[in-house]
Amino acid sequence: MGSARKKMAGLVSTKFLPRMNPVICRRQRCLSQLDETQNNTVAASIPQLPPFDYSPSPYSGPSADEILAKRKQYLSPSVSHLYKTPVNIVEGKRQYLYDDKGRRYLDAFGGIATVCCGHCHPDVVEAIVNQTRRLQHSTVLYLNHAVADFAEALASKLPGDLKVVFFTNSGTEANELAILMARLYTGCHDVISPRNSYHGNAAGTMAATAQSIWKFNVVQSGVHHAVNPDPYRGVFGSDGEKYARDVQDMIDFGTSGNVGAFISEAIQGVGGVIELAPGYLPAVYNSIKKAGGLCIADEVQAGFARTGSHFWGFEAHGVVPDIVTMAKGIGNGIPLGAVVTTPEIAEVLVRRNYFNTFGGNPVCTAAGLAVLRVIEKEKLQQNASSVGSYLKHRLSALKNKYELIGDVRGRGLILGVELVTDSELKTPAKAETLQVLDQMKDIGVLVGKGGYFANVFRITPPLCFTRQDADFLVDAMDLALSRI
Ligand SMILES: Cc1ncc(COP(=O)(O)O)c(C=O)c1O
Repeated sequence: MGSARKKMAGLVSTKFLPRMNPVICRRQRCLSQLDETQNNTVAASIPQLPPFDYSPSPYSGPSADEILAKRKQYLSPSVSHLYKTPVNIVEGKRQYLYDDKGRRYLDAFGGIATVCCGHCHPDVVEAIVNQTRRLQHSTVLYLNHAVADFAEALASKLPGDLKVVFFTNSGTEANELAILMARLYTGCHDVISPRNSYHGNAAGTMAATAQSIWKFNVVQSGVHHAVNPDPYRGVFGSDGEKYARDVQDMIDFGTSGNVGAFISEAIQGVGGVIELAPGYLPAVYNSIKKAGGLCIADEVQAGFARTGSHFWGFEAHGVVPDIVTMAKGIGNGIPLGAVVTTPEIAEVLVRRNYFNTFGGNPVCTAAGLAVLRVIEKEKLQQNASSVGSYLKHRLSALKNKYELIGDVRGRGLILGVELVTDSELKTPAKAETLQVLDQMKDIGVLVGKGGYFANVFRITPPLCFTRQDADFLVDAMDLALSRI
């Protein structure tokens, strides 16, 4: 292999090489940021990363192969990776990630809808470093202002009586606690959640999760799974009220008539970015309240301004939950989760001791406060709305070009693109999804994958994503699809 081709092989899939003429090959090398200053001279046919004035530090750590070997030897065999040849990500800045060779990628997955302010945002890093220098951990058994300040700021973002905050370390923990509180408050064990939902991987949350691929065959009691109000695949299309009748039937025929809780995402993230049909949540909340239950909104993916139109996903449905759970975006990557509820419901935990060693940790809560401030200061909700609409518009145009795209959905910067081999039968295009995913990575875009059939691209980038990034993403997807 000549040196230019060798260099390129590290940057762009070798599968692309035989199809390119040498001129395009040389151009592709420029595009791949070895020399970004030359980008404006390259061919328009190859999508280009928007310019970005940042140089990652040189990397001198172990190679991808060495890391992979260590992972295989020492980590659980359940730990998987994306891509045939996994990427060794060593640095991040705003909406971009860098691999061990200094190659830049557009991050359109955001560490699974988690990095909302952008990678290593200086305000968040500063808050973490300052707090770590001063006091890293003490537990809430002692006073410290960080946890109280963040609780106050977080409560101010929620409507009505939702003013009491419990901090956890993850979304699973937050949902476990929410379900526990609902069961204690109502004295009822029965919980309802829509099919295709994902709420975590501990006992109660795995029970509330309704996709077999995420459920192990262990005791999971007391959760009923309602027909999913999925506008694309669901039997009632976008008629939310028709789906809601199934929840009422479930209460009438599957429980004592009383329930503990209904838990749902507003947009099912892991399930393939499915926005619940309009009219569903208000009707279901009504049925649940009549049955004495509490409504839990799982905002782990859709919260923290990601939907653009609102700060919380449930707000687009005109409902006010009794309990809201959150994680991921709350800390921009710091392990942090929270449950927010009313003072009356929160009282149930006083019946016994409830304690979480790291919940409310000063470093995590200092980071959380910085995240809230950055979202406001940089108007990230407005950006998610305008860039998200633009991106969805461009993806919808791509749907008209390729029959393989069955659906484009979501709002703001939580978008899904579902691939099907037959648009009538909606046959999941699982293999094609993997191919496009890999090719997009080779061009320089990282998107996520999800959905029950693993045929949906999940686009959940940092909220500082720009229109130029959106163009690059769609152009890369276009090129990758054209090669299928
Ligand atoms: C909607 C939703 N709820 C809960 C969880 C669980 O969060 P964690 O992985 O932090 O435990 C996830 C994780 O993907 C999620 O998407």
